[in-house]
Amino acid sequence: MCGIIGATGTAAAPSFLIEGLHRLEYRGYDSAGLALVEAQGIWRARAAEGTHSVEDLEVLARTAPQGARCGIGHTRWATHGRPSVENAHPHLDCTGRLALVHNGIIENHAELAIGLLDRGHVLASETDTECLAHLVEEAVAEGTRLSRAVVRALSMVRGSFAIAVVHADQPGTIVAARRATPLVVGLTDDVSMLASDIPALLGTTRRLVALEDDQVAVLTPGSLEVATFDGDEIDPTALTVEWDLEAAQKGGYDDFMSKEMHEQPHAVAETLLDRRSPDGTLRLDDLRIDDDQLRSIDRVCIVACGSSYHAAMVAKYAIEHWARLPTEVDIASEFRYRDPVLDQRTLTVGVSQSGETLDTLQALREARRWGSRVLAVSNVVDSSMAREADGVLYTRAGPEIGVASTKCHLAQIVVLELLALTLAQLRGTRTPAQIDAVVRGLHELPDHVAEALAREKEVRDVADTLVGARDFFFLGRGVGFPVALEGALKLKELSYLRAEGYPAGELKHGPIALIEPGTVVVGVATRSPLYEKMLANVAEVASRGATVVLVADDGDDQAAGVADHVLWVPATEAILSPVVGVVPLQILAYQLARRLGNDVDRPRNLAKTVTVE
Ligand code: G6P
Repeated sequence: MCGIIGATGTAAAPSFLIEGLHRLEYRGYDSAGLALVEAQGIWRARAAEGTHSVEDLEVLARTAPQGARCGIGHTRWATHGRPSVENAHPHLDCTGRLALVHNGIIENHAELAIGLLDRGHVLASETDTECLAHLVEEAVAEGTRLSRAVVRALSMVRGSFAIAVVHADQPGTIVAARRATPLVVGLTDDVSMLASDIPALLGTTRRLVALEDDQVAVLTPGSLEVATFDGDEIDPTALTVEWDLEAAQKGGYDDFMSKEMHEQPHAVAETLLDRRSPDGTLRLDDLRIDDDQLRSIDRVCIVACGSSYHAAMVAKYAIEHWARLPTEVDIASEFRYRDPVLDQRTLTVGVSQSGETLDTLQALREARRWGSRVLAVSNVVDSSMAREADGVLYTRAGPEIGVASTKCHLAQIVVLELLALTLAQLRGTRTPAQIDAVVRGLHELPDHVAEALAREKEVRDVADTLVGARDFFFLGRGVGFPVALEGALKLKELSYLRAEGYPAGELKHGPIALIEPGTVVVGVATRSPLYEKMLANVAEVASRGATVVLVADDGDDQAAGVADHVLWVPATEAILSPVVGVVPLQILAYQLARRLGNDVDRPRNLAKTVTVE
């Protein structure tokens, strides 16, 4: 997964491209590069040092030819070929007059490379991408015009791609195409641009269109032509965008993660807005699946990755408890290959902040093939999942730039709980009064989250005592279990410390052997029907010498009695409690990562949006 950018017609192509690459860095930052097109040839610069390749590229771009008005750029998350300058995009063909950037994976690149080498091409990188540049080169050499040459090259590949191609013989033209990987085009009167996602273009225009799978676009200054791979011209659909650019900037915080954690009360409140009719019944406007269809559902499957998967786990408890519908939760990359049993009475829900994670997108496509109704939960309006699903529920968290998800995770839990309550309302498994009471509880969450955030100093003090610890267990039961998993994931991804999330009751079946003095056990011990059992499990690790940190409800002396440290949170009804309970764990991971000198916005080896398998 990578970020791509391009522009033609702009007076300052290098600075436009660099700025766009900065906004795309969350998609990967193993290397960065750009190519500018002029009639005399392609000017290219690439950087691949550490995690600041875009900054390094910016320095290199100071020597770019003045007056270049057209170019493409790329920020890379390495898949095929190590992070290096040779493997950095843009890649050139043998003539050096064609440059290409790519996001995705060319699965048959090895066999294509053999053919290309046989035909005398020289491959300069270890990437799967470079073969594309040479395949386009061959079609161009036969006199095919650039857009059709691109389509011809793509007809030979298997895999996923969003690509942009420039050629020195057509200095003002960019040809772009996609399959299973996002690509957005933006227009002003005299500039045309493209990017992997909307925020990269927001500073310049709001006239945006999304390319669909198997479409090819030809961008010239201020104009756009789109056709299918079969050659039929089409009128592309305009996108609706409400974000402003400022929303995508740091707003005074040290880093995006901190800013985004503090935006959580707002993200939750926004996600709850306008979800009720005047008579008080729940109404999910974007859903696009009518009540009769929803009533016919007899099973729910939820698929997701990473933090979104943990939000999905909370949803399982909520849907089964309130709506009494059997609910399965699956890791998207497992679901799509395990021959799932689905039919038209199954509702498959894909949960994804970006709406672009390839495994989740493909899992939803697989569900559709089986006849299942498909619902996307996405934070990005008009994301691929949102466009392809039967229905969509938007979290309204605003753009999330920090690689480790925070505010989107909370918003996902909230919107999924609204879905669970809506299903309960339709199925009559909860009375209107019961639903009303839960909805009132949901509306208290923004204040509770704000209170949990206000205790940052107390969490910092606990973090101070844990500096030097190397082994962490995060334990929980019931809805506390996904909170424990999310706490462990945050610690792993930000601080690079070993952290295992576990259901507390299962610990004695093996992992308890790892507990010894110095091991830190973080327990989610907020009040729930399993509270006593949770404290008993905590006692088991405390007696084996673990340092115990508990997330507990304000004033809970019993929990404080078995803990070395307590992370206090306002008490919340059990099933809503993950929204509040995860907050001190986010802060704990953030604080430990900062003490270790790590970049919290751009943890090593990670990327924000994973558009490869
Ligand atoms: C990446 C990110 C995670 C995120 C996961 C799923 O791994 O680093 O923070 O939870 O992808 O992303 P999605 O956009 O589908 O929610």
